Amino acid sequence: MENAAFEQTLVLIKPDALKLSLTGYILSQFSEFHTGLRFAGAKIVHVTRMLAEEHYAEHRGKHFFEPIIEYIMGMSHYPAGPQRRRVVALVYSGPDAVRKIREIAGPTNPHVARETSPGTIRTLGTVVPVKNASGAVVGERMDNLVHASATPAEAEREIKLWFRPTDIMPYMRIYPTEISDAHYYYHDGKLLTAYEPGAKCLCAPGDTVWKSDLEALRQIERGLMAACSLDAVVAKYLINASP
Ligand code: RTP
Ligand code: MG
Repeated sequence: MENAAFEQTLVLIKPDALKLSLTGYILSQFSEFHTGLRFAGAKIVHVTRMLAEEHYAEHRGKHFFEPIIEYIMGMSHYPAGPQRRRVVALVYSGPDAVRKIREIAGPTNPHVARETSPGTIRTLGTVVPVKNASGAVVGERMDNLVHASATPAEAEREIKLWFRPTDIMPYMRIYPTEISDAHYYYHDGKLLTAYEPGAKCLCAPGDTVWKSDLEALRQIERGLMAACSLDAVVAKYLINASP
């Protein structure tokens, strides 16, 4: 979606920001008064490994992949409190949304943010050493409080990963939707078109779903290559589902 007037972006208020009670400050920095952007969606999410790995798919294989997965899942900040592990997921909408939100978020590394970009949110973050099992420092994790989509194309992928169309009011949906004409279920890593015990329903006939999700499900059902993985479609339907 290239129309900058209707651009949208995904923000995640990460577990460190929740732990430090910075949610109100972050919402204030991103408010319509400061940015001219409006909320299009909001939800509290207990992040599954599937969702975390899809969200950070571009970083798969990098040395900091596992630390950022544990970070976004809340395991780093709430090791003993699974009930407190959550992020706030937000969609902001309006002209130049991706650039404006990235600018207020600031540079990825909080130390760099403090040196180069005073006033940005990530100046309040921290960098923590990552240690291996024997206690040796093997890298660093940037606890930088917020995620913000990097490009409009990434924003589309991420918004569709975290939000169903019906999480966003119709007037504010900018990506194509379609009404499902079939049942799709997910069980044990497989896509099903008929229910079996333990399966989770992804969509039923009459449900409003992202057009790109339906296209992917139809391809996967036929055993053909799809534009994205099954996990990339399934993850949002499992958000806050029973374990
Ligand atoms: P984000 O995706 O969270 O908005 O951050 P970003 O675009 O500014 O940075 P990105 O390169 O996408 O990195 C994603 C997250 O991984 C952690 N990171 N650690 N140790 C490292 O070298 C390193 N590099 C990145 C950060 O937590 C970053 O937010
Ligand atoms: Mg990024």
